[in-house]
Amino acid sequence: MSSKDQINTNKLPKHVAIIMDGNGRWAKQQGFLRVVGHENGTKSVREIVEASAELGIENLTLYAFSTENWNRPKLEVQTLMKLLVKSLKKEIKTLQNNNIRLNAIGNLNDLPDNARTELLEVIDKTKDNSRMTLTLALSYGSREELVSVVKKIADNVKNNIISPETIDESIINKHLYTQNLPDVDLLIRTSGEQRISNFLLWQIAYAELYFTDILWPDFRKENLYDALINYQNRERRFGKTSEQLS
Ligand code: IPE
Ligand code: IPE
Ligand code: MG
Repeated sequence: MSSKDQINTNKLPKHVAIIMDGNGRWAKQQGFLRVVGHENGTKSVREIVEASAELGIENLTLYAFSTENWNRPKLEVQTLMKLLVKSLKKEIKTLQNNNIRLNAIGNLNDLPDNARTELLEVIDKTKDNSRMTLTLALSYGSREELVSVVKKIADNVKNNIISPETIDESIINKHLYTQNLPDVDLLIRTSGEQRISNFLLWQIAYAELYFTDILWPDFRKENLYDALINYQNRERRFGKTSEQLS
C-alpha cells in the first residue's frame, strides 16, 4: 500500500500552509549558487500544488518571500523576483488545467511593478477556478499584516463605522489578508528549522505543526502524504479533554 492510500480523504485539513525552506542549503550541498536552489524549489512547488489539488485539499498557502527576505543580498532578491515572474508565466497553464485559483497575501505594493502586474493578471485569469485556492505569501510578514489590521479597524472607529465594544475575533479576521481563508489546520516547515519566521501568527493559533529535515527542493508528493498521515493520526482537542471528543 503506498502512503497515498493511507490518507483518509474525508479527514483532509481544509487549509495546509508550508514554509518552503532550505533552497540555499540544498544548492550549497551540491556546490551550486543559492539561486540554483531557488530554481529547483519551483519544481517542488509545482509537484506539491498538483498533488494537493488532486487529493482534494481546498486551500494551500505557500510562504514564498517574507518581509525580512528583502534584507538578503540585492542579487538574490532580484533573482527571486525574476523567478516569480517566470514561474507565473509558465505555471498559469498548470493552474488552469487543475482548476486552481491563485491568490496572494502580503504587502504586494513592495513587489517590483512587473511582478505585481503579472501576479494580478494570473489572479484575475484564474478567479473562477474552484477546485483549490493556492495562496502565495509574497512580501508577507505576520506582524506587518497585524499592523495593517489595527490601522484599518482604527480608521473604521474614527469614522464611526464601528464602535470599539463591537471589535471581536471575526472583525479582526475580516481585515486580515487571509480574510477569505479558513484557519490553518496543518503547517509544514521543511529544512529542519523549527520556527515560524513571522508566518500567519494569528491564523495558526490551533494549527498542527509538522517539521521535516527534508530541504524544499527535495520535497516530493510522498513527503506531503507522510505529513498528512501524521496529521490525521493526531487528536485535535481545541482545549477540550480527550473524553469530550469521543
Ligand atoms: C527558502 O530557502 C526560500 C526563501 C526564503 C525565499 P532559503 O533561501 O531560506 O534556504 P536556506 O534556508 O538558506 O537553506
Ligand atoms: C522563511 O524562511 C521565509 C520563507 C520560506 C519564504 P527564511 O529562511 O527566510 O527564515 P529564517 O529567517 O531562517 O527564519
Ligand atoms: Mg531559509
